[in-house]
Amino acid sequence: MNIIDATTTPAWSHLTDLARTFDPDLRRWFDSDPNRVSSMTFTAGDLHVDLSKNLTTPPVMSALVDLASQMDVTKRRDAMFAGERINLTEDRSVLHTALRRPRGDHLVVDGVDVVAEVHQVLDRIYDFARQVRSGAWTGASGHRIRVVVNIGIGGSDLGPAMVYEALKPYVKPGLECRFVSNIDPTDLAEKTRDLDPETTLFIVVSKTFSTLETLTNARLARQWLWDGLAAKGVIGESEAGRAGAVAKHFVAVSTALDKVAAFGIDPANTFGFWDWVGGRYSVDSAVGTILAVALGPELFEQFLAGFHAIDQHFQTEPLARNVPVLMGMLGVWYRDFLSLTSHAVLPYAQYLHRFAAYLQQLTMESNGKRVRLDGTPVRTDTGEIFWGEPGTNGQHAFYQLLHQGTQIVPADFIAVATPANPLKDGDVDVHELFLANFFAQTKALAFGKTEEEVRAEGTPEAIVPHRIFPGNRPTTSIMAPELSPSVVGQLIALYEHITFVEGVVWGIDSFDQWGVELGKKLALEIAPAIRGDSAALAAQDPSTRDLIGYYRSVRE
Ligand code: F6P
Repeated sequence: MNIIDATTTPAWSHLTDLARTFDPDLRRWFDSDPNRVSSMTFTAGDLHVDLSKNLTTPPVMSALVDLASQMDVTKRRDAMFAGERINLTEDRSVLHTALRRPRGDHLVVDGVDVVAEVHQVLDRIYDFARQVRSGAWTGASGHRIRVVVNIGIGGSDLGPAMVYEALKPYVKPGLECRFVSNIDPTDLAEKTRDLDPETTLFIVVSKTFSTLETLTNARLARQWLWDGLAAKGVIGESEAGRAGAVAKHFVAVSTALDKVAAFGIDPANTFGFWDWVGGRYSVDSAVGTILAVALGPELFEQFLAGFHAIDQHFQTEPLARNVPVLMGMLGVWYRDFLSLTSHAVLPYAQYLHRFAAYLQQLTMESNGKRVRLDGTPVRTDTGEIFWGEPGTNGQHAFYQLLHQGTQIVPADFIAVATPANPLKDGDVDVHELFLANFFAQTKALAFGKTEEEVRAEGTPEAIVPHRIFPGNRPTTSIMAPELSPSVVGQLIALYEHITFVEGVVWGIDSFDQWGVELGKKLALEIAPAIRGDSAALAAQDPSTRDLIGYYRSVRE
């Protein structure tokens, strides 16, 4: 594959020139261009995206679009959608977009119609979901399932957990979902503490089915189930009784079906997916089984349709109106030309309180890379640090730095028009009060408050400098009619494609994650040292040896 070096393109040189003399002034830009908002506001699916408060001008935007074009973003996009093996370091296709193609669509890759396979698995998941929801699926003692616990980590946790929280109002009443991810035994202990094993179902989710955290938690959960059912006299100590309990209380999601069977989960209770689905791109695969149970097949289909709507936008809109392209290219502008290192995501929707955590894996595991697809060092900075909290909570925590700190943090503000909980405080519609904060913050960040304005308020002279807001703090405002299953799917797909666009410009493999391997391997090597193996301890560096020594002295 010919990897274009972005820094050698004419558009890169042009952007470098533009950046050299760049003098952001949102007040002036808004005053001088009455069309700024209309020309920089776009629609993608149900998403209304206002880019006008970003630190950019028409020449910068057109140079960014040129760069996208010179970097072959469309060609690379089409290669991804077609199933070419664009994940070079793992020699894999990248086909999460096939997971949400409508029934009846076809995409043949290596002689297999992957869309047909996707829908075969979906049908099995839907059948399972209907059984759990109707009560036809029962535990070992014949009781219906009340709580479903997802055991997984990273992409096998963050997506389902985030979407479950986002779509709480759509969850079937009487059914609760919990998520266990951390190998800290506290996680499983706390999440199962008040559960009744007779009415609890575990979904063990692991693409590889070899992840230490997940398999450890799955074994702990299985023991908890056996102990609990035995204590209630539901099962005895026999192997058959225990196997029967697992059959009724455990299902699995994985690409490694042999390993699932070795764990003792019936292949009939296993939902597969494919190596062309990256973990952080998998919430719309069988990894979302818990969501199909919680929401029901019909709403899960709407969730998938939301992704697909944005896929179509990404595939068909011209670059200059293509929202994931524009947002991705703005990310490149901020990272590489304005040297901004982080990116905040600030949902004004309490239900999206896990969205930033979800995006951290999506964006940082994808684009936190320092070599290019051909193994040579990157020529530019890559990967922003993504972070965030829902508004208005963040306002009372870190917005001080956003408004008046010495570093500029581009931020995406996300809100919906129709609230799920339309409460009133007297005459005041509280959602409107909430939205007033959204609009106020983006306005204050963009336009600030000048020295003259502060002084005109009668502020004591010594305090004037403290009360100045410099403005020119960039934000993107994303609004949608409501936080429906479709809109949540649309938001996820939007950020998937933004991440892709950035990765193409940086020339990196956005779909591998070698950087997580070393720590995993070392943990396995260090574990014996903690248990008291003196040779393993001696092999450690002095600091690690000392820390283990401290631990052992406390535990002895
Ligand atoms: O350690 C990182 C990672 O490989 C992620 O990419 C992945 O989502 C997570 O671990 C969980 O992996 P698995 O689904 O195979 O258990």
